[in-house]
Amino acid sequence: MPLTGTGAIVTPAAEATRGVGAFNVIQLEHAQAIVVGAEAAGSPVVLQLSENAVRYHGALAPIASAVLATARTSAVPVAVHLDHATSPELVAEAVGLGFTSVMFDASALPYEENVRATAAVVERCHAAGVWVEAELGEVGGKDGVHAPGARTDPAEAAAFVASTGVDALAVAVGTSHAMLTRDAVLDFGLIAELRRTVPVPLVLHGSSGVADEHLTHAVEHGMTKVNIATHLNQVFTGAVRRTLRDHPELVDTRRYLGPGRTAMAAEVTRLLRVLKAPTA
Ligand code: G3H
Ligand code: ZN
Repeated sequence: MPLTGTGAIVTPAAEATRGVGAFNVIQLEHAQAIVVGAEAAGSPVVLQLSENAVRYHGALAPIASAVLATARTSAVPVAVHLDHATSPELVAEAVGLGFTSVMFDASALPYEENVRATAAVVERCHAAGVWVEAELGEVGGKDGVHAPGARTDPAEAAAFVASTGVDALAVAVGTSHAMLTRDAVLDFGLIAELRRTVPVPLVLHGSSGVADEHLTHAVEHGMTKVNIATHLNQVFTGAVRRTLRDHPELVDTRRYLGPGRTAMAAEVTRLLRVLKAPTA
């Protein structure tokens, strides 16, 4: 199955009121776990690399090339997305490397500046056939800041989509990034209103803090792309920690990263079912 356009995965899922899992990659093992997990579920998936992860690696191309190659050899449709990019230069590099979509995150800027910066990125990305997600109503929790009280205004969201031409919109409905407990309280009424008002698929960020049944309800109320990173890192790291605790003699990284990758793949499969992901 070739690398697949993000819109070709997300648009039909939105029409069918189903969820698309968008899971973050830091190491190559994350990409492998996500693809193996999606293949076991028989569902399409989005692999995403954040600007922060790129900063960790020191460059986009090496990790992106590995992620794109992993996507290209998958048995299910896989999109490759640049997540939380604030740099238009990084967006341009991702487009050049073959990413199928980008999230341009100007949500920390005042509304008018967010519109101006996002519209310019959309114009360049669309010229290259690349799908664009943006955010309105900053979802807190990045870099340690918690702001679960932020909310996206439906009328402003519709105006933002019309002025920028974005293909999907990340909205603030009660989540916060990097939560280690799954007890976020979602505003399902607002999700349903946003779904009615906003003409493009909705994206839920900070979904690690959301319990299984609320993830399912979020999809049923109109969320489509569901971003999960921290929770999968908890599963990966938990397996690595147990392995090293039980086998302190290990030095070969494959012997402890392998169990982390296997545990994460199983959780990806389970989450895709929770999200009512379509079958490919
Ligand atoms: O863009 C990525 C996500 O919003 C992931 O957030 O680490 O809280 O699951 P999370
Ligand atoms: Zn996010």
